[in-house]
Amino acid sequence: MSIRVSVVGASGYVGGELLRLLLLHPGVAVAQATSGRLAGRYLHQAHPNLRGISQLQFVHPDKLEPCDVLFLALPHGQAAASVGRYAGLAERIVDCSADFRLGDPADYRRWYGEEHPAPEWLGRFVYGLPEINREQLRGARYASGVGCNATASNLALLPLVRAGLIDVTRPVLVEVKVGSSEGGAQSSESSHHPERAGAVRSFAPVGHRHTAEVRQATGLRDVHLSITAVELVRGALATAQAFAAGPLSEKELWQAYRAFARAQPFVRIVKERQGTYRYPEPKILAGSNYADIGFALDDESGRIVSICAIDNLMKGAAGSAVQCMNLMCGLDEMAGLGFPGLHPI
Ligand SMILES: NC(=O)c1ccc[n+]([C@@H]2O[C@H](COP(=O)([O-])OP(=O)(O)OC[C@H]3O[C@@H](n4cnc5c(N)ncnc54)[C@H](OP(=O)(O)O)[C@@H]3O)[C@@H](O)[C@H]2O)c1
Repeated sequence: MSIRVSVVGASGYVGGELLRLLLLHPGVAVAQATSGRLAGRYLHQAHPNLRGISQLQFVHPDKLEPCDVLFLALPHGQAAASVGRYAGLAERIVDCSADFRLGDPADYRRWYGEEHPAPEWLGRFVYGLPEINREQLRGARYASGVGCNATASNLALLPLVRAGLIDVTRPVLVEVKVGSSEGGAQSSESSHHPERAGAVRSFAPVGHRHTAEVRQATGLRDVHLSITAVELVRGALATAQAFAAGPLSEKELWQAYRAFARAQPFVRIVKERQGTYRYPEPKILAGSNYADIGFALDDESGRIVSICAIDNLMKGAAGSAVQCMNLMCGLDEMAGLGFPGLHPI
């Protein structure tokens, strides 16, 4: 029997990707998709790619009924504000927001400038990146979302961290280039086409909130993020720079990346000597849950450059969320997530 899943915030960009994945997933049936604005309208009115795939209509969030797994794809603060109600409706919740990502309420004060409205729930959510918490997610009831910039940064850094290759007495710097869909479906002055098109815009050179998530996930205390908006709709490319803890060869780096990727069905190493796609590139990952990681070593200085490309709406949000659900419900971890991306695109 199929697992009944519902999506709250289904008219948004992450909600749309969740629907695309869940409607085609072999082990689940989509029960409800909510939207306040579009209640009563067909899914394809918000997500034209879903025309003919489902005859489901959006329902108002107040009409949400019990189901097995509830996906929340809501603006910041909304999931935490109503978590008791949602938990009363479903045995399992997979959130996509930042509301349950950080374990320490003090981090919400510091990075989000506010008190967490439901701190007692923080310890109940497993941080929803299977590449870090696979075993904790198996059978879990509640999984948090992942930040897209944080996910690209974490997957760039984890092979090095796990192998103990980074000199932790020196800062680790990460630059993340991101596409416009990261801002969600609601338009703003800065997303207006003449302002956004062609942009290479320093969006958050310092102080980005996902820094907290990267510190929590990697254990690196002196890691710093800068975020730049670039001419992409989907995609995030993290370029992390760290210095080696001691003498390091490219062979040892290969071993570290292989050891990390071996256990991760959606992580691929991209490092070619020739050709166009010698390092990870988000363009060919659009719609895919794969994260491509690669590296370069500057022998002279011991500087390691580690690169990770993802689709922010997939590995950085909906794809990881469905991967979490698969683990939580005892399904094949890769179920419904096999799409490898497109080339050419
Ligand atoms: N975009 C990304 O790349 C990305 C990546 C990782 C994580 N995330 C996180 O995922 C979440 C969703 O992001 P998004 O980009 O999909 O945002 P979005 O496009 O703005 O969509 C937000 C959705 O939330 C609904 N909504 C708003 N307030 C609500 C409420 N009080 N109760 C119920 N539904 C409500 C909206 O429904 P209506 O139709 O009623 O307006 C809409 O469907 C955010 O927390 C974001 O931080 C986003």
